Amino acid sequence: FKASGVQVNDKLYDRDDWTNVTPSVLAKLDRKLHLQERNPIGIIRQLIEGHFNDFRTFNDLSPVVTTRQNFDDLLIPKDHPSRTKSDNYYFNKDTVLRAHTSAHQLEGLASGANKFLISGDVYRRDEIDSSHYPVFHQIEGLAYFDGQSKGEADVVAAIQADLEKAKPIPSNIEIVDDTIIHPGNPLQGRHSEAVVTPLVAHLKHSINSMICHLFADEPNLKVRWIEAYFPFTSPSYEVEIYYQGEWLEVLGCGVVQQALLDKGDRHHAVGWAFGMGLERLAMVLFGIPDIRLFWSQDSRFIDQFTPGQIKKFQAFSKYPPCIKDISFWLPPTEWHDNNFCETVRGVAGDLVENVKLIDDFTHSKTNKRSLCYRITYRSMDRNVTNDEINEIQEKVRSTVEQDFGVELRE
Ligand code: PHE
Repeated sequence: FKASGVQVNDKLYDRDDWTNVTPSVLAKLDRKLHLQERNPIGIIRQLIEGHFNDFRTFNDLSPVVTTRQNFDDLLIPKDHPSRTKSDNYYFNKDTVLRAHTSAHQLEGLASGANKFLISGDVYRRDEIDSSHYPVFHQIEGLAYFDGQSKGEADVVAAIQADLEKAKPIPSNIEIVDDTIIHPGNPLQGRHSEAVVTPLVAHLKHSINSMICHLFADEPNLKVRWIEAYFPFTSPSYEVEIYYQGEWLEVLGCGVVQQALLDKGDRHHAVGWAFGMGLERLAMVLFGIPDIRLFWSQDSRFIDQFTPGQIKKFQAFSKYPPCIKDISFWLPPTEWHDNNFCETVRGVAGDLVENVKLIDDFTHSKTNKRSLCYRITYRSMDRNVTNDEINEIQEKVRSTVEQDFGVELRE
């Protein structure tokens, strides 16, 4: 981690005001869990690739992308909140760790394939708990039907021919879908209903049958389609799965914006795309309770899995946690939880299991605001000692004091 810049492989990226990538995150770049065939993330990736067997696959594209790939190519406005430093890991103002596999949609189009999948590690600054980790994995799918030199009727015929070949949805799955196309989630200006209706049916069938394939052994699964918004699709949807009393969001999708297909030189094509997070799905399918487990190199974890098979994880005994609180008075500047979590992670790495705000009050006279966070430390593969954690906690305290100008209490 050089002062002059951020080095990855043989490339050196100049630092600037945007640089906020940390060494602990950079250390994840070569893990590629989605390519590990015994890791649940890799197993799910392979099952999906096997299901969409006529799609071309890209699974080793570099996660270091330009802001153009991650945002501009996807029609994400310049002032969109998803571009902020508190949500992303920037190398500098032009280079970022991809926040989604959609960053490669144009590369997929440039390959000439009309159906493709892109899987990879994606990076987002976030909170710390059992289901959030700054690195996770996604798989993107895109399919288009080209109308070059043909008319709309031919495109519709091609979509319908494909749909007719499709297998029906098995009855173990209940699909709830009352989405309709309406001005709030509209048809694009260049599209007619005659094309979009079968295209959306094709999208929905493709996604539903993938989910059925993954959950083939689940006796009764409930899947729900809801409306969504993405700058690069319209209409847009999200798919949720009912799990342990809650609806879990598993993917986003929609009809690809024509302006994006234009950038990819597919002016006469219409298509759909989806992007799905693999960790959530793997936690449900394999019964994995903590997202950090995917990163474990402990043989008690990895030896449980067999390529191509979904089977329930057998918990091995957890090591005990060590819990520490930190409280401080805030300076008058803005405060972001994500940045605080990032600092804790920067010091403690994978030993942090959870960071939770447990107290937040403003002094009535001085108007100063005080926060208290509870940090749970635990290792996935060994016992930690109180001395060791005290040392880390001291370092967290001094780093937080320095980085944010807070006034530590007690
Ligand atoms: N990239 C979106 C996300 O990460 C998901 C998405 C992909 C939505 C493709 C629509 C089409 O949330």
